[in-house]
Amino acid sequence: MLLAKPLIVDSMQRINPTLVLDLGCGKCNFSRKFIEKGIPVTGVDKESITESHDNFTFVQQDILDFKFELKYDLIMGTGILHFLKREEAHQLIEKMQKNTLPGGFHFLICMSNEEKPDNKIHFYPDKEILNKLYSDWEIIHNTPCLSKEHGEPKHQHKILVFLAKK
Ligand SMILES: C[S@@+](CC[C@H](N)C(=O)[O-])C[C@H]1O[C@@H](n2cnc3c(N)ncnc32)[C@H](O)[C@@H]1O
Repeated sequence: MLLAKPLIVDSMQRINPTLVLDLGCGKCNFSRKFIEKGIPVTGVDKESITESHDNFTFVQQDILDFKFELKYDLIMGTGILHFLKREEAHQLIEKMQKNTLPGGFHFLICMSNEEKPDNKIHFYPDKEILNKLYSDWEIIHNTPCLSKEHGEPKHQHKILVFLAKK
């Protein structure tokens, strides 16, 4: 199975956003690059975080309660959607899509259904589900792959790296 890293690097190189929303931002692993470039980034997480930059706005909130008041040209959700129930994730994706500017991007890293084939409750999509949810977007990557090795004992997750343009 492919490794995620080259797909993530390729995705990041294709995006040149002006306003970013990072849902479930954690330590801003994927939005840090944009924060450091001075691009305005809003991060939403239910846990408090330590990231602090003039151009970074942190909202401590459940992502399901986040009020979209702006339209973004990049919305990211990495390692987060599997915490939601399927229907919640579908509704959130719909809201994210409505609040994306034309030509804007969604960058998702989802735990794939191959990671937890028996979990019928939470959002562990396969490629087809993401294709369906984004049927009127240009899909650039929607690729089952393996995350990098981490943790103790060392392990990898079966994930989908997904990039689409509105
Ligand atoms: C696996 S971490 C991923 C962090 C980051 N996006 C990344 O890719 O490194 C998941 C993050 O989602 C947050 N989280 C989980 N469920 C959430 C929810 N319903 N609302 C807001 N944040 C949530 C957790 O607090 C955690 O920071």
